[in-house]
Amino acid sequence: MNAFPPLKNDLILRAATGQPTERAPVWIMRQAGRYLPEFRKEREEHDFFTICRTPELATRVTLQPINRYDGLLDAAIIFSDILVVPQALGMVVEMLPGKGPNFPEPLVLPEDLMKLKEVVDVYEELGYVFDAITMTRKALEGRVPLFGFIGAPWTLMAYMIEGGGSTSLSKAKTWLFKYPADSHKLLQKITDVAVDFLVGQIKAGAQIVQVFESWGGELSPHDFNTFSLPYLKQIAQRVKKQLLQDGLSLVPMTIFAKGSWYAIESLSESGYDTISLDWTVDPAYAKSITKGRVTLQGNMDPSMLNGGDDAIRATVRQMLTAFGTNQRYIVNLGHGILPTIDPEATRVFLETVHSVGLELNKN
Ligand code: CP3
Repeated sequence: MNAFPPLKNDLILRAATGQPTERAPVWIMRQAGRYLPEFRKEREEHDFFTICRTPELATRVTLQPINRYDGLLDAAIIFSDILVVPQALGMVVEMLPGKGPNFPEPLVLPEDLMKLKEVVDVYEELGYVFDAITMTRKALEGRVPLFGFIGAPWTLMAYMIEGGGSTSLSKAKTWLFKYPADSHKLLQKITDVAVDFLVGQIKAGAQIVQVFESWGGELSPHDFNTFSLPYLKQIAQRVKKQLLQDGLSLVPMTIFAKGSWYAIESLSESGYDTISLDWTVDPAYAKSITKGRVTLQGNMDPSMLNGGDDAIRATVRQMLTAFGTNQRYIVNLGHGILPTIDPEATRVFLETVHSVGLELNKN
């Protein structure tokens, strides 16, 4: 096992496991990315997936927000992408500047499943992510814990069939409704890789992990229960079982199922420690349903960061008051930060989370 520097800030780990915290910890989905000029500079020199595949570059970019907002962020998240798993399954994925991901040969018909690799050795195909995690964990010098992550099976299936971004997901949904058995075969295949990939990330040094079901809300509650939830459960259960079998400690697991407000209750019984909420969910509603069984994370509308300092401060106060600050709560945005956000507005957000969090805890 790797020997890592001792952790100096464990607020997120405590919040995720239900222990009290002196203030609510905070991190931001997509905290390393295009809203930061230092990241855009890196991208002028390197292709997106080259950064992901080069541990020195991934480490440097992961640390950019940690260094810029020195002492204000309570976690780092490894720089990578959910689409490295379709790549590991044998698909070509490119990142088009200003457009996003593109699969030149998406899955069209069930027979295309034959094109995917039969068995994926994650150490061979995704070892560069593990190396980046180990290197970043050392470079962090224990300042904050490091998140690993994966895309959830349904979200990845949708990208693999749509071939990129989509508003209706009509092609991916055609698979669900016309070829349900093949859809389950694909979802299971992704799940198997996801379990090995997450376990590998934890072995490499990830101290907490998040599963991104970014397209959960595109499914009806019934279809979510059929095509998403069983695989999310499998991932939580199998990762924990594998870690215990290998004699390792468990790490907290977070599920972010964007748009799936209807699933909060079932998700709170699915093996995850934390449920990440988007901004359409009322904190009081989520608290009343989960009853302290899980930690809640979220959920300010990322666009609020364009609303000016006073609006940001007022919204943070309202949000922290509604969630309660000293137990079972991690502050975040309701989705990833947008490329148009001013990094100084982000600083106002983080500073307010700290000051209001401490103030409310005294009362
Ligand atoms: O700090 C971090 O969170 C960095 C690591 C990270 C990235 N993507 C880097 C990235 C993480 C955790 C992700 C997750 C991810 N990737 C998700 C789930 C989260 C969500 O937003 O719902 C999804 C759906 C993807 C797929 C993806 N990657 C899309 C749709 C895009 C293009 C649109 C966009 O938001 O930029 C990407 C590209 C991407 N992933 C960028 C970054 C920094 C920008 C690409 C560039 O630099 O050209």
